[in-house]
Amino acid sequence: MSQIYASFKSIGAYVPEKILSNADLETMVDTTDEWILKRTGIKERHIAADDEVTSDMGAKAARLAIDRADIDKEEIDLVLCATVTPDYFNMPSTACIISDKLGIKNVQAFDISAACSGFVYLLTVAKAFVESGMKKNVLIVGAEKFSSIVDYTDRSTCILFGDGAGAAIISATSKKEEAFVDVHASADGSYADFLVTPAPGTVNPVSQKVLDEGLQYVQMKGNETFKLAVKTLTKDVKEILAKNEINSDEIPHFIPHQANYRIIKAVGDALKMKEEQVVLTVGKYGNTSAASIPMAINDIWESGRLQNGELMLLDTFGGGLTWASALLPFAGKAK
Ligand code: ACO
Repeated sequence: MSQIYASFKSIGAYVPEKILSNADLETMVDTTDEWILKRTGIKERHIAADDEVTSDMGAKAARLAIDRADIDKEEIDLVLCATVTPDYFNMPSTACIISDKLGIKNVQAFDISAACSGFVYLLTVAKAFVESGMKKNVLIVGAEKFSSIVDYTDRSTCILFGDGAGAAIISATSKKEEAFVDVHASADGSYADFLVTPAPGTVNPVSQKVLDEGLQYVQMKGNETFKLAVKTLTKDVKEILAKNEINSDEIPHFIPHQANYRIIKAVGDALKMKEEQVVLTVGKYGNTSAASIPMAINDIWESGRLQNGELMLLDTFGGGLTWASALLPFAGKAK
């Protein structure tokens, strides 16, 4: 029997219409466009409409990914969603709702929670299902309505995050040249308090106290997270490249999690990456958590920069703390 590999067949994304600019934020909190741009590289972020939920955005991104993979939705045999802003805390899963919105029936569907690392975590799960022979076409979605857990009176967090979704089809192939080269994910729960939404959950069930203290909003130890992100991401990408005997100058597309331009620059510099190798979307989307990497992949696909067979290096870091990286060729059709 020939070996089965997992391959990255297509990409799609959805960006909500409404833009929240730095100038808008200047009217909401004590901040300036100059501070935000200098410290984060973010100019604007997109915010979902009041009646637009995470599964709406995920389903829109997924429809594009399915079309572009040239498969029928009936061929999908697993639906996975990474999100920390699910439609419901905590059931039904957003993956179930996305499946229903797409008309995908009687197919296994579930969510995972790994914050900004969610999409690369999904790649590890999809790879395992496909390469074990259990599934053939896996729909993976990273979708976030992060604005729903942001306190727009807290200047240290509200300037960072945006909403959006990205999706991909991971399919079985017998062609080794289409296969994921490597993917790895890790975590360290001892840093759980670096990035946390304290409620709702069993620690802080919904109560008047929760609402009075704003415990439903994301809290972040920004500076500590920043330092650890640079250190961990640099080590992680160096390791995956060394393990696979690939030099950083052989990577046409380095697609890091889009949290902060300074983090991306520090990691890119440590790897001696040239500007044209590094994909940057943080300026226009902000940090969209699990949606950030597929939204960035979609950007280079839609602009015609991503060609069949080209190698992508993905790298991410987020709440948990979690981190992950992946080395894989784009096995779909170029635009
Ligand atoms: N405007 C103006 N001043 C501000 C703002 C603002 N929006 N926010 C903070 N400041 C002030 C602070 O109050 C502080 O003032 P002080 O010195 O008088 O106390 C000063 O700026 C410096 O604050 P720091 O927090 O030290 O600023 P830093 O340079 O670290 O930048 C930032 C903050 C942008 C949040 C950065 O730390 C960061 O990007 N952290 C990492 C984020 C990340 O990677 N998260 C992981 C993924 S997210 C996920 O998983 C969901």
